[in-house]
Amino acid sequence: MVKACIFDLDGVIVDTAVYHFKAWKRLANHLGFDFTEAENEKLKGVSRVRSLQLILEWGGVKKTTDEQSQLADLKNSWYVEMIQGMQPDEILPGAKEFLLTVRNAGLKTALGSASKNSRTILEKVGLIELFDSIIDGNTVTASKPDPEVFLKGAQSLGFNPADCVVFEDAIAGVEAALAGGMKVVGIGDSATLIGANLVVAGLHEMNLDKLYKL
Ligand code: BG6
Ligand code: MG
Repeated sequence: MVKACIFDLDGVIVDTAVYHFKAWKRLANHLGFDFTEAENEKLKGVSRVRSLQLILEWGGVKKTTDEQSQLADLKNSWYVEMIQGMQPDEILPGAKEFLLTVRNAGLKTALGSASKNSRTILEKVGLIELFDSIIDGNTVTASKPDPEVFLKGAQSLGFNPADCVVFEDAIAGVEAALAGGMKVVGIGDSATLIGANLVVAGLHEMNLDKLYKL
């Protein structure tokens, strides 16, 4: 029986991809090349530093490690500026309702995100109180598809991986959950989220019945 739900943030609880896109595009333009929405799609679930390295490769630009770290900081400063204005109406459909449903059913909730900005975002949209534990880019060393973020999530709640269900929109995140020995609900397209135990369009399509049948 499932005892806890672990949620990815970006693309599952809130749609921040648009802000990441604007900030990365501004950085690419600043370096003299363009950045497309199709490229942005490939960065879902990918850490900040790895995202920058991919963008530099796509733009055919080489930078030293120090320069990379400055560029990642610059992008993040623009991103942080944008997320300051986030509002509760940016919560994805059904996300708050499903968090409340599982908590009212006595299950625990954790966040399992690659983002180092997760607390700011959860505070801005007013959801921070609905998580028993927050594991994010500040707490992990290995990026998804490594299972570290979800294993730490399960551990922080005091449960075994097999007692937890992960909700993820990125293929790297689905792979991470499976590698950690957890059930996983993919948020998005079943053609992309291969291996997920169930794929739904969003948390508005989830309920306790579907959760318990996994
Ligand atoms: C993931 C996003 O959740 O977090 C990625 O899907 C992002 O696009 C990553 O790069 C790291 O986020 P941040 O906020 O630490 O730059
Ligand atoms: Mg995501």
